[in-house]
Amino acid sequence: MYKKAFHSEDISMKNFLVTGGAGFIGSNLVEYLLKYGAGKVRVLDNLSTGFRENMDPFFENPAFEFMEGDISRPEDCQNACKETDYVLHQAALGSVPRSVNDPQATNQANVTGFLNILVAARETKVKRIVYASSSSVYGDSPHLPKTEDAIGNLLSPYAVSKRVDELYADVFAKSYGMEILGLRYFNIFGPRQSPDGPYAAAIPLFMSAVLKNESPYINGDGEQSRDFTFVENAVEANIKALFCPLERCNGGVFNIAVGDRTTVNQLFRIIRDAASSNIEPVYREERPGDVKHSLADIQKANNIMGYNPAINIEKGLEITFQWFKKKYFSK
Ligand SMILES: NC(=O)c1ccc[n+]([C@@H]2O[C@H](COP(=O)([O-])OP(=O)(O)OC[C@H]3O[C@@H](n4cnc5c(N)ncnc54)[C@H](O)[C@@H]3O)[C@@H](O)[C@H]2O)c1
Repeated sequence: MYKKAFHSEDISMKNFLVTGGAGFIGSNLVEYLLKYGAGKVRVLDNLSTGFRENMDPFFENPAFEFMEGDISRPEDCQNACKETDYVLHQAALGSVPRSVNDPQATNQANVTGFLNILVAARETKVKRIVYASSSSVYGDSPHLPKTEDAIGNLLSPYAVSKRVDELYADVFAKSYGMEILGLRYFNIFGPRQSPDGPYAAAIPLFMSAVLKNESPYINGDGEQSRDFTFVENAVEANIKALFCPLERCNGGVFNIAVGDRTTVNQLFRIIRDAASSNIEPVYREERPGDVKHSLADIQKANNIMGYNPAINIEKGLEITFQWFKKKYFSK
């Protein structure tokens, strides 16, 4: 992965902080930055949903530093932001159902934690922050494809937390002249996404199930659709957001997806075929807070930061499936 650089700037003297770098998307960002010779890549992570193992390949690189800490503690954010040029903020508690079960934990990590990062970044004079928002902010808006300015009523505490982050980001950019850009990710998938735990996402769950020859659950009738996006595209977006000219993008939010949608039933069939399996899924009730269809308009990110996702869902699933097979099922 990451055979092509998404930046042309010299990053060998730049220091990056990746919050949530022990997690799925964060560890992919770290991989990219180290591969292209970043001066320093620091991770701040409390290992609540991320894994030390995701960082194993990085520890031998002298440019890498791991700080175990919690973004809900202001002093941890202060320490992590010291001597940092750029922040890629990924740390959060993901998952709509988790937030429905425990809205306070979601708020503490996603809202208080983000606010702490903004304050620390301001005090330590960080040059730019790129942070993870989510397509969940579109809520019950019926419009397809989703454009950044047409959001609906929010449907979960998780969506509220990400929307509050966007509001804080906008206000901090305006009030303090900070450079802050938000990326509304649409169902990101790829290597290092965990198939474990009650809040695992559909793609790692399906891959793990078919490889074990077990039937996975599908919530609802499976005809709900999503703009599934390979993680390399999300990394492209983060790197381009870090370096795009400021006057075109400050304080804004950008859809990060492919601009194509696939139903959960189609997704399951692609994965099942890749595994040459004939297993059938088990259908169960829809989850509260889930939206029926999701599809992004990615023109804004394309026009403003030159985001041009190269990996479609089929190719992304192939890479991910091979990775899963090797990691979990090679003897
Ligand atoms: N994966 C997706 O499809 C998707 C979609 C939309 C938005 N997002 C957002 O992207 C970001 C990354 O998601 P991911 O899929 O890589 O999830 P992940 O759970 O794999 O990674 C999140 C990381 O943040 C860390 N973390 C959580 N709370 C923390 C805290 N209080 N202090 C320090 N570290 C903490 C976790 O330990 C983990 O390593 C999150 O902000 C998530 O909300 C993800």
